Amino acid sequence: MKKLENYVAPNDLLKDRVVFVTGAGQGLGRIAALAYANHGATVILHGRRVEKLERVYDEIEAIGKAQALIYPLNFENAQDKDFVILAQAIEQQLGRLDGILHNAAFLHGLSPLENQTMEQWQAILKINLIAPFALTRACISLLKAAPDASVIMTSSSHGHNPSAYWGGFTIAKAGIEALVKVQADEWEAIPNLRINAIVPGIVNSPQRARTHPGEVKESILQPESLIANYLYLMGPDSKDMNGEIVFCQSKK
Ligand SMILES: NC(=O)c1ccc[n+]([C@@H]2O[C@H](COP(=O)([O-])OP(=O)(O)OC[C@H]3O[C@@H](n4cnc5c(N)ncnc54)[C@H](OP(=O)(O)O)[C@@H]3O)[C@@H](O)[C@H]2O)c1
Repeated sequence: MKKLENYVAPNDLLKDRVVFVTGAGQGLGRIAALAYANHGATVILHGRRVEKLERVYDEIEAIGKAQALIYPLNFENAQDKDFVILAQAIEQQLGRLDGILHNAAFLHGLSPLENQTMEQWQAILKINLIAPFALTRACISLLKAAPDASVIMTSSSHGHNPSAYWGGFTIAKAGIEALVKVQADEWEAIPNLRINAIVPGIVNSPQRARTHPGEVKESILQPESLIANYLYLMGPDSKDMNGEIVFCQSKK
């Protein structure tokens, strides 16, 4: 089993595997989806806006490996039944699911708690915390049937160390880390199931540009530089990892 440090994924790492990526239309999700496809996976591209997903679909087609699929769903309005329908569609069209990268995220902007509303918190918790739980739960039989299933949740340094002005987003990400611990504990005795969290650190993306509009994009890491972490956690080399929080950059 290879280690994460200096990890180089083999070209066929995810051959014959089906991987679901949420928030795949831009930023880290897009780069992870392209990398998974480039390493042999059939990738299901999820997001809110179809036109963005279609652009990533075309990029994957240009790679010339397994064809991608598109599954749009707005997590803010989604109910349990929508996730059940989603899982049924995967079962019917592909017959298997080997991994989920929960990457989609939303925040309204940075502000003190006294300026945040209950409606904003409800949306933030629904998109960033409840939807990852509901999607994983809906897909559980597919994941149990896979020989080596990996679920990756995305946290943030502000979820790990709560800090001012990140409000409901910080609470949702802290909840994601707790969710990983609970689920990992429940899956401890199931050798083909694992769940871990990834903390990207500061990365150039549309979300980062929204929260830090004055930042020079070239002064921070590009999402491509983190991709070894995403490949390692999705592929068989991390088979023995369960319940870990993986920091792509230093914790500060
Ligand atoms: N960038 C950073 O510096 C950084 C740091 C720490 C953690 N992270 C985490 O890494 C992940 C990716 O970050 P990013 O910066 O690449 O984010 P991003 O550019 O803002 O992309 C977020 C994705 O989430 C999707 N999304 C947002 N609201 C949604 C909704 N209601 N329903 C369904 N999908 C929705 C978006 O889809 P549409 O485009 O279709 O709306 C988009 O594809 C997130 O979990 C983020 O918290 C990022």
